[in-house]
Amino acid sequence: MKFNNHSKHKYFYQRSTLFNMEQAISYERIPTLIYADSDAASRAVAHEIAGIIRQRSNEGKLAVLGLATGSSPKKVYAELIRMHREEGLSFQNVVTFNLDEYYPMQPDSVQSYVRFMREQLFDHIDIPSGNWHLPDGTLPLEKLAEFCKDYEAQIERYGGLDFQLLGIGRNGHIGFNEPGSLVNSRTRLMTLDLTTQIDAAGDFGGLAKVSKKAITMGVQKIMEAKRVVLLAWGEHKATNVARAVEGSVSSDVPASYLQLHENASFVIDTAAASQLTRMRTPWMVDSVNWDRAMIKKAVIHLALTVNKPVLKLTNADYNENGLSDLLALYGQAYDINIEVFNYLQHSITGWPGGKPNADDSNRPERAYPAKKKVIIFSPHPDDDIISMGGTFQRLHDQGHDVHVAYQTSGNIAVADDEALRFAEFVVDFNERFEANNAKANRIYREAAKFLKAKKDSEIDTPEVRYIKGLIRRGEAKNTCRYVGIKKENIHFLDMPFYETGTIQKNPIGEKDVEIVMNLIDEVQPHQIYAAGDLADPHGTHKVCLDAIIQAVQKLKHREYMNSCWIWLYKGAWQEWDIDQIEMAVPMSPDQVLKKRYGIFKHQSQKDGVPFQGSDAREFWQRAEDRNSNTAKLYNKLGLAEYEAMEAFVRWKI
Ligand code: F6R
Repeated sequence: MKFNNHSKHKYFYQRSTLFNMEQAISYERIPTLIYADSDAASRAVAHEIAGIIRQRSNEGKLAVLGLATGSSPKKVYAELIRMHREEGLSFQNVVTFNLDEYYPMQPDSVQSYVRFMREQLFDHIDIPSGNWHLPDGTLPLEKLAEFCKDYEAQIERYGGLDFQLLGIGRNGHIGFNEPGSLVNSRTRLMTLDLTTQIDAAGDFGGLAKVSKKAITMGVQKIMEAKRVVLLAWGEHKATNVARAVEGSVSSDVPASYLQLHENASFVIDTAAASQLTRMRTPWMVDSVNWDRAMIKKAVIHLALTVNKPVLKLTNADYNENGLSDLLALYGQAYDINIEVFNYLQHSITGWPGGKPNADDSNRPERAYPAKKKVIIFSPHPDDDIISMGGTFQRLHDQGHDVHVAYQTSGNIAVADDEALRFAEFVVDFNERFEANNAKANRIYREAAKFLKAKKDSEIDTPEVRYIKGLIRRGEAKNTCRYVGIKKENIHFLDMPFYETGTIQKNPIGEKDVEIVMNLIDEVQPHQIYAAGDLADPHGTHKVCLDAIIQAVQKLKHREYMNSCWIWLYKGAWQEWDIDQIEMAVPMSPDQVLKKRYGIFKHQSQKDGVPFQGSDAREFWQRAEDRNSNTAKLYNKLGLAEYEAMEAFVRWKI
């Protein structure tokens, strides 16, 4: 269903937190506030909610809140809890209605939204126990229709929702109103879209185990709320945020219905904003500062839009595509073209550790020291080879002293039957040779017993987690052997934040940072490679990067840090935009194959792993597609044609 936007055609002149765009003609049809990160944004939203609660309390009234689950609102709830504890914010006058619950679902299940809400909010505040409501996942099917009707009637009896908090699915859903849901849809049982099921696979321990259905509040009730705030963090949300905010109102993207709401806002971080026009092509929205990065971005965008290599762009191309002021600044397309072509050319190098005895003034890395000490930080045990396997190999082959630091054990991503296979292997091996380490035997037997009887979503015992961690450790060692890395240069950091046994990780702690610091201090590297990828489904990469950033900040006054350069690669899920790339390392067809076989060493991560994320391709396929795509883009822009390329951005301390 498509709506005619002109019926409610608004151009918003907005103030956003990061970008002063009041003067800009906006393409955005929903007021959108962009924050540098989700912490600051969540605090602002929590404060708005607290304001409503206090105001209603002053009036002697109830505040009726519509709440969401998922990863997006967690920090909002954490801030509300903090305000309750430290600032005396009371929830005595609060009534809540959650958007949804899986069906069927027992409230104490790990995946239940009842459990989620209790753990994330209700058990930590003074909300009266009868005041919070969630759809009931335990009802028999025949009672659902009546329940749904009554859920809406209850909201109405309280005078409707004062505030509705929303997340957005990767497919644009709100609540579990999947694409195709109508604007007047009611609270109902919904079959979950495949994308939603894939995104939930992590919580359920595999796609096959995900609930196929959920009860969701309908779009109509959401639209009736007096105020609606939708949260979105991370680049995996960016495409649908842009479609919802700038596209036409359509049931294909249910979040776009919020264009029709009088008082709805999107509160998002810069990553989720990255596909908005004001971020992608800011020169089309307002006057911009034409620095090197902006020029590069604009010219590359132009070349790809008009489908021409950079050196063939004409004055007319610039003028006809919103870049007349850039052209006016230079006078001739030719001059801009040459400059940008050179930027691109200079980012390509087959010498990621620098080329000894060569003029390095136009190379991404320094020629000296010729033999560099390098640490590759790999959040999970396979990110090194998946994301920068070609560069990893080159650094080794070009004689650098390469260390690899595996930041987490990656144990939750090993399937139970894989762990069982290993546990039984040890048990059978011991039996055959009558190996009599009774304690070890018992541990493995118990682990095997646990795995055979394990219920869905039950948390692994520490022993099982250890076995799973060992499996991944073995695979990582195997990759290092394959690349040629010596044993003493392989470091397993097992950062403690990761070791919860569940998807939900602990926040980064001092110990995590200290472990990273110690390694950097020991190696005193000239180069650090780290995953700058913020889009992995469980946020592990972000925590791992934060730990490195904090460690580096603490160490920055050490002498050796003056000559330490930090290169960021992207993890398995995304690639840098072509205009951001500062070092592109080409690969030949043989090198691509070599990398593929390196990725194959991670057998536990092949063939539909539990945490595949949103992409059904195997990791080696994603890596190859992505590396070949980067090479194709360079070629399209008029540079040499390579088989594949790995991409890096330099992070300056
Ligand atoms: C949750 C809900 C969903 C989520 C959406 C985003 O109650 O209704 O619409 O808000 O799937 O999930 P996260 O925030 O986990 O990315």
